[in-house]
Amino acid sequence: MGDNLILRILSAIIFGTLLSASPGLAQSLAEKVEICAGCHGQDGKPADKTIPIIWGQQAGYIYIQLRDFKRGDRKNETMQPMVSTFEKNDMLAIAEYFAQKPWPNLGQPRPPKDVAQRALTAEQSVGCTSCHLEQFQGASTVPRLAGQSAEYLAKTMADFRSRARGNNPGMTDLMLATSPDDLSALAQFLAGL
Ligand code: HEC
Ligand code: HEC
Repeated sequence: MGDNLILRILSAIIFGTLLSASPGLAQSLAEKVEICAGCHGQDGKPADKTIPIIWGQQAGYIYIQLRDFKRGDRKNETMQPMVSTFEKNDMLAIAEYFAQKPWPNLGQPRPPKDVAQRALTAEQSVGCTSCHLEQFQGASTVPRLAGQSAEYLAKTMADFRSRARGNNPGMTDLMLATSPDDLSALAQFLAGL
């Protein structure tokens, strides 16, 4: 073993130790999630209604979305730069962090009877609850929809339909099989749950 190699190994060890010991270089989970509150809400209630609630969302689902934003499978100019520096372990930890928070109550009204009826008929013909489960609570990689912002729900279902949101072709097919009027009723119905 030449002196040169020993030196390189030694400096790699020292540099590695410095890196992991330096608080300035390794960002904590608390530091990583600080920025999220600016849009997703200090108390879990996003100020902008086109921004989704992430507090209390299913951990598996949050992780998949962060991963898809990072890969560019789900395109969004705002979210893509947020996740660009995250590694898989960061995204898993962040997902767990938000999933454990309580789901906030946006206090959205129940829709009028005719709208609710239209939503229920559409729900039954597609069978949304076979995946999103009873009361639309979701599980694992299937998101909770109950009480999500009506504006966001309407936007993201339209995005699936137009393939602007292309990260789940199955949801796109289901949205294409549902009329825009039915989707509008579903958004109001789900928000009021
Ligand atoms: C500058 C505003 C902004 C910041 C900061 C921000 N987000 Fe977002 N986030 C958005 C918007 C807007 C969307 C909706 C994108 C869309 O319509 O497809 C979104 C969507 C999401 C979604 C998808 C939720 C769902 O129901 O599909 C997750 C998960 C998410 N953000 C997590 C985070 C995390 C974690 C952070 C912090 C690291 C963060 N966001 C920071 C604006 C922001
Ligand atoms: C075959 C299973 C299945 C069925 C049936 C289904 N969904 Fe989904 N849905 C999913 C999955 C999985 C996702 C997460 C997609 C992803 O990872 O981006 C999703 C995502 C969504 C989202 C996005 C939520 C968010 O926070 O961005 C909405 C809204 C939605 N579904 C509404 C519906 C409605 C309304 C119906 C019935 C008309 C329905 N889904 C039927 C599996 C299903």
